[in-house]
Amino acid sequence: MPPSRDEGPDSGQVVLSDGSTALLRIAQPSDADELQRFVERLSPEARRHRFFSETTPPAEVIRTLCDPSDPRRSLTVIALRRQDGTLRVIASGSYHARDPHQAEVAMAVDDRLHGHGLGTLLLERLALLAVRHGFTRLWAITHADNVAMREVFASSGLPMEEHVEGGDMEVELSLTPTDHSVRQSEWRERIATAASLHPLFHPQAVAVIGASRAPQSIGYRLLDALSSNGFCGRCYAINPHAATIAGIHTYPSLRALPEPVDLAVIAVPKDAVLSVVDDCAATGVRALVVITAGFAEVGAEGRRLQDQLLEKVRQQGLRMVGPNCFGILNTDPAVRLNATFTSTFPLAGSIAMSSQSGALGLALLAASERLQLGLSTFVSVGNKADVSVNDLLQYWENDPATNVILLYVESFGNPRRFAQIARRVSRNKPIVVLKAGRTSSGKRAAGSHTAALAANDVAVEALFQQTGILRAETLEDMFALAAGLSDQPLPKGNRVGIITNAGGPAILCADACEASGLDVPELSQATVTHLASFLPPAAALRNPVDLIASADPEQYAQAIATLLKSDDIDALIVLYIAVTATDVAPIAEGIKKGILEARATAPVNKPIYIGWMVETDRERRFSFVNETIPTFALPELPARTLGKIAGYVQWRERPAGMVPDFDDLDLSTVTRICHDALTARGDGWLTTAETRALLNAMSIPLPPGGVATSAEEAALLAEQIGFPVVVKLASHTLVHKTEIGGVHLNLNTKVEVRHAFEQIAARLAQDQSLEAMEGVLVQPMVSGGVEVMAGMVQDPSFGPLIGFGLGGIHVEILGDVRFRITPLTELDAADLIRSIKGYRLLQGYRGHPPGDVDAIQELLLRLSRLVEEVPEIVELDLNPIFAMPPGQGCRIVDARIRVGKIA
Ligand code: COA
Repeated sequence: MPPSRDEGPDSGQVVLSDGSTALLRIAQPSDADELQRFVERLSPEARRHRFFSETTPPAEVIRTLCDPSDPRRSLTVIALRRQDGTLRVIASGSYHARDPHQAEVAMAVDDRLHGHGLGTLLLERLALLAVRHGFTRLWAITHADNVAMREVFASSGLPMEEHVEGGDMEVELSLTPTDHSVRQSEWRERIATAASLHPLFHPQAVAVIGASRAPQSIGYRLLDALSSNGFCGRCYAINPHAATIAGIHTYPSLRALPEPVDLAVIAVPKDAVLSVVDDCAATGVRALVVITAGFAEVGAEGRRLQDQLLEKVRQQGLRMVGPNCFGILNTDPAVRLNATFTSTFPLAGSIAMSSQSGALGLALLAASERLQLGLSTFVSVGNKADVSVNDLLQYWENDPATNVILLYVESFGNPRRFAQIARRVSRNKPIVVLKAGRTSSGKRAAGSHTAALAANDVAVEALFQQTGILRAETLEDMFALAAGLSDQPLPKGNRVGIITNAGGPAILCADACEASGLDVPELSQATVTHLASFLPPAAALRNPVDLIASADPEQYAQAIATLLKSDDIDALIVLYIAVTATDVAPIAEGIKKGILEARATAPVNKPIYIGWMVETDRERRFSFVNETIPTFALPELPARTLGKIAGYVQWRERPAGMVPDFDDLDLSTVTRICHDALTARGDGWLTTAETRALLNAMSIPLPPGGVATSAEEAALLAEQIGFPVVVKLASHTLVHKTEIGGVHLNLNTKVEVRHAFEQIAARLAQDQSLEAMEGVLVQPMVSGGVEVMAGMVQDPSFGPLIGFGLGGIHVEILGDVRFRITPLTELDAADLIRSIKGYRLLQGYRGHPPGDVDAIQELLLRLSRLVEEVPEIVELDLNPIFAMPPGQGCRIVDARIRVGKIA
């Protein structure tokens, strides 16, 4: 199966700085001949730079380069692209171990493709692979005049040291990612992705292939939608059996067109799609929208066809939306592209929208028209074989026409990448996600508390929390958020004023405000006095301001203007429930008047929402020259919407947070322990001694002590540590120790320690499981402090989830544990600690001293780093951890780590 474009370091498509693409993968023995030809095609100078000789290296050398069997020794990555009908190597790079930590790198790029970022992409890929195979540094030697290579090293952003001697330059790169190196590569990918999607949204010429003569058919409707909505470029119909369709001259094939087209919309039967894509590549098409269904969504055979389609698309350097999609739209007046089969052409506006369901996409477009929501672009992503939501986010990030992003998502292709991108994009443009379906991380048999508690949907919830995404629960929510974000200013705070003509709706609205984290404050005396000057005595002047049933248009106008101009609130919700039918239109006028007056004179623009509860006038819109006021038929939705938006504003105002670096980690020891355990025993828990050594290598604080294999050794160890001590069964196979009498607390003498050892051994012997005993762990008796726990579980699609909560027995009874996805920034860690219900215990409660929150935070950050660096760690539980009073750190009393082979 060809790789998906978001896949890990082994293979996948990359986008060059000119927007074209190439396939990057590890060289295999079968690539030797093509690699040899590539080396022969290189200029003598390029060969000299790569191989220190202008002559072509012998076939034996090339064969070694193509041998991926021992990645701890060497690996070669090649970049491929189809040229003149043949798949050609256009660049290659290799690393070779100099020692277990350092590898030499060398690379060469086709002379004609210099300057497109391919060298840097290769280096990045090699660096990722090298890290995975235990290297921490890359080393290169090049001719000092090889300026291009030097630039590649410098632009990687990896910390670099260089040393020039004679005509040669030695370069050493550290593979520990720094914040700077991560930012550099993100920048490159973002720019390149946006460039590659440009022809999709801004084509000069479009062909509909499979335009059909039957007016009800999809092919006919596609052509009609494109040609009748004022597309600003040229549009062509392709059908071998017709001369004209819908009054448009028709061509038998792409090859017969008078000019090349940038975008092809494909609606031919599924068996014809592959050959049509060949035609597209041959005639210079740059982007495809494949409407045709019958691919991965229909089962194994369709999946195979989709794999072949994707392979062609990648090899030809095309970009493709779909297959099995409903099309794309761009409302830009200079483009007006409707490449869908609906004739609806939405209002131009600032909302970009993507839907994973075609049918829902149709409904979304219809609703946006009904609600007068202005769209910038719309993409039905279909099977997401090539263009993914991650690509679209990066495109919209740079798209000046887009200010708000709406996503209907059923599954995340690469959630970790999504998290990275969304976290960045959300800082400038709000992302609203309606997520259907649930994750299944909690379904597997749970061997640790962390795994048991990582129930359904926690990963998605954590993802949204950490990335500032506004989660819509329903379609209605999604549109309400879209309207609020695109049509109104963002609130500067969370204080809401409510104006109403009836008590009931106002109470419901105020309750919904508070439940959504908003504040409905009492108004200042100045505001109350002013309201009293024009409202009847029966009116309520605090907040909500109840104008009572007799409210007239002028009172609405004045109350609205008064509240919007006051400093008491950051946002306003105006409610109106119909009293008599004849009042409705004048009241609407009064509301408009109040808003316009405040907009003309108030110093700060505050968001306004309307609850218009008038059955006979449900479609009313409050639209002025410059703005539309989001209007809802019930009082709670404006409150909930405003609450989510205010939460987003708060998230955005927080600093971005950093993933901290630690300089006291011994990652090679950690990797070695996991590797050795896997080699010796396969998947499973580490032994107590391995667990302790691993945590020590991460500088994660453990109480003194160790594993003793005899009663006497245990007694001596206890004496060294100092009494009282704890003696616990050390076993990587018997996980629940207390139940089998494996834990002896508060032992005060050597005799007691010996006795504890013997009792544990006797009990295991009785159960015929003595061989499971590695020995006993002897550690000091820890007391005091707040019992918490921390752990990690791998979500099948989200990667590591870090959990934190109250520890010990509380975990089982209360389940007060929250999760975050990795990597954790220091703000994520701080927020995670504060998100549990039991946080008050850590602040000190009823005479109990507080816990060392800083120490816990550091522990969580070290855990995050550990599980990010060592994917072989699949589950981890530190429970309980005693959080000692501030400044005294924390003590991990029990630790379990499970390793597994990476799939
Ligand atoms: N090049 C150009 N035109 C071609 C062609 C080719 N290689 N092969 C066929 N055609 C023409 C046909 O002549 C026909 O035109 P005509 O009606 O004037 O004769 C037209 O393309 C369509 O072919 P047809 O045989 O009618 O195909 P179809 O009934 O299978 O419909 C699709 C084509 C794409 C609509 C259909 O296969 C499909 O996938 N439908 C589902 C689409 C969908 O639901 N997508 C997801 C939405 S969310």
